[in-house]
Amino acid sequence: MEAINLTKKYGNLIALDNLNLKIEGARCVGFLGPNGAGKTTTLKIFTDLIRASGGMSFINGLSVHENKREALGHCGTLIESPEIYPSLTPNKALSMVAELHGIERSERANRVEEAIAEVKMDEWKDKKIGKLSKGMKQRINIAAALLPEPEVILLDEPTTGLDPKGMTEVRNIVKSLKKKNRLIFMSSHLLNEVSDVCDQVVIIDHGKLLVYDSLENVTSRFSANGTTIVIEISLSKPADEATINKMRSLSNVISVEAVDPRNLRLVFSAGAGNQERLVKDLGAMDVGTISFKAPSSALEDTYMNLIKDGA
Ligand SMILES: Nc1ncnc2c1ncn2[C@@H]1O[C@H](COP(=O)(O)OP(=O)(O)OP(=O)(O)O)[C@@H](O)[C@H]1O
Ligand SMILES: [Mg+2]
Repeated sequence: MEAINLTKKYGNLIALDNLNLKIEGARCVGFLGPNGAGKTTTLKIFTDLIRASGGMSFINGLSVHENKREALGHCGTLIESPEIYPSLTPNKALSMVAELHGIERSERANRVEEAIAEVKMDEWKDKKIGKLSKGMKQRINIAAALLPEPEVILLDEPTTGLDPKGMTEVRNIVKSLKKKNRLIFMSSHLLNEVSDVCDQVVIIDHGKLLVYDSLENVTSRFSANGTTIVIEISLSKPADEATINKMRSLSNVISVEAVDPRNLRLVFSAGAGNQERLVKDLGAMDVGTISFKAPSSALEDTYMNLIKDGA
């Protein structure tokens, strides 16, 4: 998929501002940005739900405007999860969607079965949709997106509004979609979800592209040697001033501050070697360290830095 100078204006508001983005090959790309950044707008233009004010969008090299049928022929989309009739079964509902896609009658049953199998809903295919959990309903929506045998799958916040179990279910399905050679482009507000599921990250803000890179490159920008890392240490017993002072004197430690007597926030020089040494030193101090974790993820640090700079 490719956006060239993609622009969308709503009156005076510029929702997309000359967006250029080219994503090729089978991969899973997380699409991040704060509320109102232009994610849904981008996805809607790519599926021809709305028209751009300027620029072009291509899927598989075909213009979405000029060649909609061919461009979207092998594209599966899930934007603003539709409510499916609760009295239908997944089988029936998906057969109807298959018909809308113009899939031949002789092929329909097979395609529906395959899509249901991919979202692991075989057991439920003849139950009423009204009886399914939200996560299962969303899996049926994803199955609908799979009916055209897509090479490109566009998902707008597929896990939003689901409870933790539903989120995990849908996330696992998205992960399993990666097994076939497809390009998955998924917007999300959940940085841990993107870290978990995606290989690459696009970040936009105010309709402008801030970054498009591998997850690894994006997250290493702010955790490389020469930078600092903040971690939180939990202790089984309260730390006294002498303990905190001793920690301050450990190698590579820059500062130690008590959030409360059992939780300390420690800043140290980044690097795997430094971290290994620090864990060892803390263990040797025998102060009852029960956990050692970063209060935010590397992707979160990068995201916050980029969004802040762009504001
Ligand atoms: N139909 C519309 N009319 C006027 N303004 C709109 C319309 N649709 C979107 N906008 C505006 O365009 C901007 C981009 O909105 P968009 O929905 O693409 O953001 P988003 O990144 O999907 O945000 P969110 O994370 O909240 O879903 C916002 O400022 C929004 O208010
Ligand atoms: Mg949106």
